[in-house]
Amino acid sequence: MSLSGGLLWHGRAWLSRALWQQTCEQISDWLHQVQPHSKELLLIGASAGWMMPNGWLQGFEKVTTWDIDPMAARLFRWRHAAALQASGTQLRCQTGDALASLANLLPAHPKACILFDNVLGQYRFHCRDVAHAAEEIARIVATVRGREWGSLHDTFSGPAQSLLPSGVIPPMHSSIRGPQSDAAADQTQLARLGAKGKWLDHLTASVFDTGTRVHHIAWPYQTHYWHCLQAGWVKN
Ligand SMILES: C[S@@+](CC[C@H](N)C(=O)[O-])C[C@H]1O[C@@H](n2cnc3c(N)ncnc32)[C@H](O)[C@@H]1O
Repeated sequence: MSLSGGLLWHGRAWLSRALWQQTCEQISDWLHQVQPHSKELLLIGASAGWMMPNGWLQGFEKVTTWDIDPMAARLFRWRHAAALQASGTQLRCQTGDALASLANLLPAHPKACILFDNVLGQYRFHCRDVAHAAEEIARIVATVRGREWGSLHDTFSGPAQSLLPSGVIPPMHSSIRGPQSDAAADQTQLARLGAKGKWLDHLTASVFDTGTRVHHIAWPYQTHYWHCLQAGWVKN
C-alpha cells in the first residue's frame, strides 16, 4: 500500500528477522538508555513494532500507537499485547495519518512523550513535493517542541558490501549534532559499511537541534542495501 509500510514492509520484516536482529538489539540498547520522564508513550509509525522491544514498552503505564497502515494495529497487538498486559501497560492502537494530525493529537495526550519510530526518514516518499520534504519534516518536529520526544529515522540509504565477513554489523556509536560532527559521523558510518554507488538522502539532517546527542545505527535492510539510522531523545 505504501513505500514505507503495508504488506511489503510486513513481509520484508518477517523474512528479515535474522538479518535485522543485530540492528534490533542496538535499537533496544539505545531505547533502554533512554529513561523517559513520562509514563505515557505516543508511538508514531509503530507498524507491528517489528523492531520495537517489549521490555522498553513495558516501562510505560499507557502506550498509544498510530500508523496509517490499516494492518498495523492488529499486527502490533499480536506482537506486543500479551507482554503489555503482563506489565499492566494499557495499549491502544489507532489507524490514521498521525503526522498530518499531530497538532490535534497532542492535546489529547498532554503528558505523553512521543517517539517517531522510523517514520520521519520515509516522509519524502509520502510527500507530494519532495523539494519541500525537509521543510515539512521541520514543521512536524516543531509541533513537538516543549514536549519530551525522540526519533529513530533513516539518514542515508544505499548500496554497500554485503554483511561484513564476520557477520557482525558495526557497533552503535554516538556524536553530538553539529555541522562538522555530522559530516564526520556520516563518513565514519559509510566507510564502515563499504558504501558504493549513489546513496539516498532521507532529508532528516535537521530533525535534532545542534548540540543533541545522537546515536548512529547500521541497518542491513537487504544484504547489499543498507540504511544509516539516527536515534535521539529530547527531554524538556
Ligand atoms: C519503516 S516503517 C516503521 C517500522 C516500525 N516502527 C517497526 O518497528 O516495525 C514506517 C511506518 O510508518 C508508517 N507511516 C508512514 N506515514 C505515516 C503517517 N503519516 N502517519 C502514521 N504512520 C505513518 C508506515 O505505514 C509504516 O508502517
